[in-house]
Amino acid sequence: MNWKSSWEKNKERSKYHFDSNIMHPLYDTVIRVGQIDVSTITDEDIKDIVEDSYASTWRTRGNSDKHGKIGVRSRKEEEFVAEEYDLVQSGYGHDHIISNLNWNIPPTIQKIADQFKLTRQMTRIHVQFPGQVWNLHMDKLEKWNPDDIDSIERYMVQLSDWKPGQWFSYGNYTFEHWKAGDVTTFNWQDVPHSTANAGHEPRITLQVTGISNKESKAAIHTMTQSSQRKEQRNETLFNTEGPL
Ligand SMILES: [Fe+2]
Repeated sequence: MNWKSSWEKNKERSKYHFDSNIMHPLYDTVIRVGQIDVSTITDEDIKDIVEDSYASTWRTRGNSDKHGKIGVRSRKEEEFVAEEYDLVQSGYGHDHIISNLNWNIPPTIQKIADQFKLTRQMTRIHVQFPGQVWNLHMDKLEKWNPDDIDSIERYMVQLSDWKPGQWFSYGNYTFEHWKAGDVTTFNWQDVPHSTANAGHEPRITLQVTGISNKESKAAIHTMTQSSQRKEQRNETLFNTEGPL
């Protein structure tokens, strides 16, 4: 079937309940993977990323060169047409700016991305400026591995601390209060999500997408385990009796 709407097409595929009164533990949530050390990223790196980022629409959010290098096909015109149909239907217009993006990853950040060890790994930095809104949608990452869609993963590494007015929505859950270094993921096939910056400062996030493999599973497991240990230590600190 040739779908007019990208949203309606993905809705058909999704297992999400699409009921705003339900908080389903599998879907209305962000999956907290752990923390990663981002202390190697310099202020200069962050300044350059922000300055070199470009304002992106749905149509200009991709990078066919980068996709080509990792063997992922570029989007077809019919995908853009269906996405733009949704934008117009909801009142955003074709040329709505969703976020600034930057595909030039400095070595300090590439090293962080490389820790995920995904196959066909793609990295992109989102710099969402105040006023930018990435409207509600479901991802279409099938092209990474059409024969085994469940093997495709997407991680978000926050590169700046949360500031008031910044948020992500995952189903009916709103994610806020992150710290730089927090790593999260979500069920991309099913969960409608969005993000907006109604604050005063840019929100900077590294996005890592690729195919899971034995090495990546072990690396991400270690990331989670070491983060849990950190949280336990914090709890111990908070539970210590005595004067603060
Ligand atoms: Fe998305």
